[in-house]
Amino acid sequence: MPSRSFTETLAAALAAGTVEHYRDAALYDHDYGRRREDVRYYRALARQVGGPILELGCGTGRLLVPLLRDGHEVVGVDLAEPMLARLRERIARLSPEARGRATIKRADFRALLLGRRFPLVVCPFNAFMHLYTRSDVERCLASVRAHLAPGGRFVFDVMNPDLRWLSRDPRRYWDRTRYRDPTTGRKMIGSTRIAYDAALQICFLHNRIEAEDGRGRAKVVRLTQRCFFPLELEALLHYNGFAVEKRYGDFGGGAFEPDSEEQLLVCRSR
Ligand SMILES: C[S@@+](CC[C@H](N)C(=O)[O-])C[C@H]1O[C@@H](n2cnc3c(N)ncnc32)[C@H](O)[C@@H]1O
Repeated sequence: MPSRSFTETLAAALAAGTVEHYRDAALYDHDYGRRREDVRYYRALARQVGGPILELGCGTGRLLVPLLRDGHEVVGVDLAEPMLARLRERIARLSPEARGRATIKRADFRALLLGRRFPLVVCPFNAFMHLYTRSDVERCLASVRAHLAPGGRFVFDVMNPDLRWLSRDPRRYWDRTRYRDPTTGRKMIGSTRIAYDAALQICFLHNRIEAEDGRGRAKVVRLTQRCFFPLELEALLHYNGFAVEKRYGDFGGGAFEPDSEEQLLVCRSR
């Protein structure tokens, strides 16, 4: 069999890095259940702007479900069926009135055609970092433009690239953590290998999961994230028809600084 070209190998790695991390939706919620600041920020924003709200990359509904509880009409879009299945279970437990305000769609936010517009489009918690190429970014921003009502806002957050973290030794596994698997109850150990390709600006994360008692084989779950440098992101938004109205460095309204962990951008069509 002929060996795979670099392009094919890369495409396979990116495809795996976009789905593997989202296969175990219960573990996703276990890992990020204590991440509350971003949810507080987006809820306050939605209160201020009003709905209906379009959430791109809604996942298991970490934000979408609180927005429904707050009384908003929300349309959620995501590619990962396991994440959407968990979201649908959560929505089924809400009041009939809240359930009636939810529309969930399995779709690619790079090619969205809902045929309606929203005063608020959000893309929270690094979902935008799954846009690996310029074409991905252009297609996604075209989708956003097609769904923004006149004067509407597009608000999203991505990590501020941390070169110290990205340049960790890619031969090692870092950040060893112990946890109990939310599905099986088994005691597990997780650790992460970080391989950053500075030419592609893509971080290839390998999360190794093994049982604490050493039984069974370790499993590796891949996650790929495109890094966006601050001025690059502003330029991409500008040349795709957006003006950055506000840029924060955290979810508490802190100014964006060189060592901010987040880039939280409030954008409008220009
Ligand atoms: C880090 S999760 C964020 C989920 C949710 N917004 C939250 O805050 O917990 C990123 C989500 O984006 C979704 N996603 C990635 N690429 C996508 C695409 N092209 N179209 C739609 N969803 C996508 C993934 O399936 C995943 O659920």
